[in-house]
Amino acid sequence: MKARVSVHRDFKIADIDDRIYSAFLEHLGRAVYGGIYEPGHATADKNDFRTDVLGMVRDLRLPLVRYPGGNFVSAYNWEDGIGPREQRPVRLDYAWRTRETNAVGTDEFADWCKAAGTEMMLAVNLGSRDLDAARALLEYCNHPSGTYWSDLRIKNGHREPHNVRVWCLGNEMDGPWQVGHKTAYEYGRIANETAKAMRAYDQKLELIVCGSSHSQMPTYPDWEATVLDQCHDAVDHVSLHMYFENYEQDYLNFMAKSLVMDRYIETVSGVIDYVKAKKRSRHNVYISFDEWNVWYHNRRADHDAFTTWDWPAAPPLLEDVYNFEDVLLCGCLLNTFIRRADRVKIACIAQLVNVIAPIMTETGGRAWKQTTYYPLYYASLYGRGESLGVAVDVPKYDAKAADDVPYLDVAAVRNDAHTVTFFMVNRHPDEALAVDIDLAGFTPTGIAEHVTMDDPDLQATNTANAPDRVVPKRGQGVAVRDGALRGDLPPRSYHVLRVSV
Ligand code: AHR
Repeated sequence: MKARVSVHRDFKIADIDDRIYSAFLEHLGRAVYGGIYEPGHATADKNDFRTDVLGMVRDLRLPLVRYPGGNFVSAYNWEDGIGPREQRPVRLDYAWRTRETNAVGTDEFADWCKAAGTEMMLAVNLGSRDLDAARALLEYCNHPSGTYWSDLRIKNGHREPHNVRVWCLGNEMDGPWQVGHKTAYEYGRIANETAKAMRAYDQKLELIVCGSSHSQMPTYPDWEATVLDQCHDAVDHVSLHMYFENYEQDYLNFMAKSLVMDRYIETVSGVIDYVKAKKRSRHNVYISFDEWNVWYHNRRADHDAFTTWDWPAAPPLLEDVYNFEDVLLCGCLLNTFIRRADRVKIACIAQLVNVIAPIMTETGGRAWKQTTYYPLYYASLYGRGESLGVAVDVPKYDAKAADDVPYLDVAAVRNDAHTVTFFMVNRHPDEALAVDIDLAGFTPTGIAEHVTMDDPDLQATNTANAPDRVVPKRGQGVAVRDGALRGDLPPRSYHVLRVSV
């Protein structure tokens, strides 16, 4: 099968906002306790952060990490997580029916972000609480000194403000499962008032309002229209979430699901444009896709566990083990963010450690990279610069999730004056793709690097005992010939192709 790909030097979609390579960390399962934080662990630093995990996180070069939830945040009292540890209350977490010790809170997370080379993206609780708790947290984090909240932060050991720039106004407020779930109108009003109060402190904050929890929600996409009708000019981004599953073990249908995400982005972009026009506004609202991932491997078992268990502290929960097939879909999802760089300015893989995560640990033991670590790693490393428009001429197929799914998925990034990077996934189950890539306006001089992932076994996974079962390797077979790139991409394969120009 043949694929013809064309990019043009002058056909730029947008500058890529590096923050599309961000992540999410919730107080959930072993994400925090036993994940990033573990007193007594052989690799723990002076703050009890696991340095084995920190090393893997740092390598991902994450611009932001969203925290502390997720569903958890909607019944969270942030004040429980500050001050002397021995005085912090133990609380019940209503979202996941677990016990929260509060040993880690906002200040510890700030310290961890520094160590991880990333920035905090905080969510405020608009479920069980309101704008007063939000503005107090903002003042605690960002005000230099001389007020009740800022002096309390200093007393708690943090003289310098945390200076958090990006804030989520609640989490998934359209979901009936959310503590303090609201109608679109109720939430839009509260989001607007909270945004106004936070902006009264600092005009330049970036504020994210909750969009739909996924595109199958009964209120989608009216939710976005009604919410934005209340708060369009007060916010900067609409938050979208989407998770993908392959319960039916239908490979081609699973691989079509990045088109579902693309349609979701397109529809919500349209709603944003509609509200902007209706309001005769010049203000731009973008998309923060702050939860995305594959999530199903352990989902049914988790659901049975957490709906029946007796409030344990940091139990294993949502510990999906990812396989090679998930690498291919994650590659397509990341490509979608690159191609939608004009609309999507933030995206967070959900989550980061142990909980539906690219990094896994044993409490008291080893840490390793799941298969899905790698597409995120390469997108973050080489996916920065300008997103270029890509024309792809390749046969397509129809699936239950979407029609007209191209067998080849491509995103192109002009990194700098000398390099263009192509991220490609051959979706075809059993045919190689003979690609012919035309770089109009560029003179390709050679392949600077070709990384590939392919595996005869779609179900292959990495585990503590076999952490390198599914890893990237050097690609071959693509070369510059007659001014174009030509070569074969094996069936079911992921590629990072860096071209010198
Ligand atoms: O990431 C797991 C959960 O998925 C989050 O807590 C919630 O926001 C979403 O439903």
